[in-house]
Amino acid sequence: MKVLLLGSGGREHAFAQKLAQSPKVEKLWIAPGNAGTAACGENVNMGVLEFEKIYAFARENQIDVLIPASEDPLVLGITDFIQAKNKENNTAIKVAGPSKWAAQLEGSKDFSKNFMKKNGIPTAAYLTVNQENLEAGIQFLHSLKAPYVLKADGLAAGKGVIITNDLQDAENQLREMILQKKFGEASSNVVIEEFLHGIEISVFAISDGKSWKFFGSAKDYKRIGEGDTGLNTGGMGAISPVPFADEKFMQKVEEKIVTPTFNGLQKEGHSFNGFLFIGLMNCDGEPYVVEYNVRMGDPETEAILPRLQTDMGDLFEAMVHSDLETLNLVFDNRTAVAIFLVSGGYPENFEKGIRMEIPEFSDKNVHVFHAGTKNEGGQILTNGGRVIALTNLGEDLESALQNSLQMAEKIKFDGRYFRRDIGRDLIQFQKKYAKPNG
Ligand code: AMP
Ligand code: GLY
Repeated sequence: MKVLLLGSGGREHAFAQKLAQSPKVEKLWIAPGNAGTAACGENVNMGVLEFEKIYAFARENQIDVLIPASEDPLVLGITDFIQAKNKENNTAIKVAGPSKWAAQLEGSKDFSKNFMKKNGIPTAAYLTVNQENLEAGIQFLHSLKAPYVLKADGLAAGKGVIITNDLQDAENQLREMILQKKFGEASSNVVIEEFLHGIEISVFAISDGKSWKFFGSAKDYKRIGEGDTGLNTGGMGAISPVPFADEKFMQKVEEKIVTPTFNGLQKEGHSFNGFLFIGLMNCDGEPYVVEYNVRMGDPETEAILPRLQTDMGDLFEAMVHSDLETLNLVFDNRTAVAIFLVSGGYPENFEKGIRMEIPEFSDKNVHVFHAGTKNEGGQILTNGGRVIALTNLGEDLESALQNSLQMAEKIKFDGRYFRRDIGRDLIQFQKKYAKPNG
């Protein structure tokens, strides 16, 4: 099988590492990739939104499976694009990702809330507001209790969500989003939501268009500071599995959320090939959907994939050939803790091009996933805010965290920062729940 993977982050390095280990994968290209993916296959200098170039490359190199790992190409319709090209030119490139229609589950908050309402899937109460019904939006805000949640309808690079305790501030921000297009076109429609109190968890599923299977659970840590303080980031770390995702909770997630989601897609005549990422709030043991994404998470992937024991080539073959039912999907039931090493100053201003020292780790439970790095004449340099994810597998959360911290310490570059409390809030749950199930 020849594979072209699109993306350049830690998630893509984790995918590339697993794909490179598969006897089924005879050749792997990554576009554009990073210094880490270069060791797993061949990096190709091509952007993830250059659909014409991507198709031409895939055709010329007889790619069997194209994997768009991030949301932008999926939301902009790469799957439909390649399928149309296949028809036109009689090629048979399979895309491991959903159609543009299904990708609206991530691309439009209004679409996804509507979808949930239609299919009886538990989620926060909401109202979608634009220039026409702005006053109704203000009234809806007044009917809610603080904190107030405002979400730009479209993709806003993870920045389109505002949560504020102050009603006047919420009103002002709502007007700014809609009238002054605070997030560009993405906020010409705004979803106002009731605030859900609880603890967050990300649950993943894979689907081949006919059937689906759970693909692990994880919790990510978005804030820059320990104790979940300070600015939001692209993700400072993740753990998998989540201790409170026990059999009882996951059964509720299956019955109330995942089954109705895939059934709902099928009812609309849209099959879903790919990864579904469900951001959930556990409110006193009851799961509510906060958001859907139509791809794996970053940094959740860096915690989940080291636990995957199933061959990644087999997995993608099953996904694109609708053969998931026969796939034996197995995860290591130890705990993975992924810690992101970031540049000093991130998520605000930071320098790039800083020399890095990365030792060889002989322990096979330790994984180094490159994200913002580049290789210049054999020297690895920083090339972004989030630089490297260090993952370690351990018998329990506490020992996995301790080992990850020790290993992270060994990777050195000026200004390096990482959180030392990834998963710490969940250690109490691990003591309470003997056996996570995700
Ligand atoms: P989203 O982009 O929809 O995932 O929102 C970003 C983050 O905002 C989520 O991960 C939650 O931490 C928080 N959030 C979003 N919606 C809600 C809600 N209705 N209640 C509480 N927190 C929320
Ligand atoms: N970790 C959140 C995301 O990938 O969107």
